[in-house]
Amino acid sequence: MAHVAPMDYQHLLEQIAADVAPLIGSGTPAEYIPALAGVDPRRFGMAIADLDGNVFGTGDWRVPFSTQSITKVFALALALAEGGDTLWERVGREPSGNPFNSLVQLEYENGIPRNPFINAGALVVTDRLQTLTGDASSELLDFLRQESGNPDIGFDAEVAASEQEHGDRNAAVAHFMASYGNIDNPVPMLLDHYFWQCSIEMSCADLALAGRFLARHGLRADGSRLLTRSEAKQINAVMMTCGTYDAAGEFAYRVGLPGKSGVGGGIIAVVPGRCTLAVWSPGLDAQGNSVAGAAALDRFTTRTGLSVF
Ligand code: DON
Repeated sequence: MAHVAPMDYQHLLEQIAADVAPLIGSGTPAEYIPALAGVDPRRFGMAIADLDGNVFGTGDWRVPFSTQSITKVFALALALAEGGDTLWERVGREPSGNPFNSLVQLEYENGIPRNPFINAGALVVTDRLQTLTGDASSELLDFLRQESGNPDIGFDAEVAASEQEHGDRNAAVAHFMASYGNIDNPVPMLLDHYFWQCSIEMSCADLALAGRFLARHGLRADGSRLLTRSEAKQINAVMMTCGTYDAAGEFAYRVGLPGKSGVGGGIIAVVPGRCTLAVWSPGLDAQGNSVAGAAALDRFTTRTGLSVF
């Protein structure tokens, strides 16, 4: 792979922003959570953080947005770091091929979700983190603040309340798994932590910086080790195969990087050993992935050759 000097990232980002400009505003912001439906669909931001914490950006890269399911990656990393591999007895590592909020596989797979990045799997991860730490959502928020260096990152109470109000399906998923013995904490408390987790607001700059441990083979911003090299590889692999819902195959085909999206319109992606990217544009495709965001990551790997393939 060709070396990309830090200055080149800035130029590259401007080129990518120009490439995807016609797509900005395409797709539809998430409608099932009213607090997200009102976001301006013409927003677009993108950031790249290198291994040393230099961060480059374009457009709305410093504007906080609702990270939603992107937080599932960070919760997984913390649950593995603090509790180890036994988590995998409760959640699988296969793409589901179904929408992120689907219940259909849970019954014939005995309450074991396919992977940690669909809602069912993320609920199990949050349940594990809650048992390990006693306060899953605060633990996650602290970690994101530390890794990004931004103490102002916070929860969005309006989004959390809106998730709660429209949370029947997540409640059904959690109760259903509890009926199989795959949830340890009281379901209402688990749902609270899950909704707070989804409501965390961060910018592309924050996300690119916070995700650096995935590019740094498990090393945190302060140089301490969060994950073994092998665990970092495993999380990246699950992001590649399961990180973009039932469009993970298409994302791998187009982008060729581990990635995780959220219905707020954000996506993070990792070039292991090189850099972390975050992109945001609220217009979503039918699977819930940002249209301009996925296109921008596609342009990044196409222009630079920096994919894992
Ligand atoms: O659980 C939900 O419905 C959302 N708060 C999270 C949605 C999201 O980004 C997609 N999830 N995997």
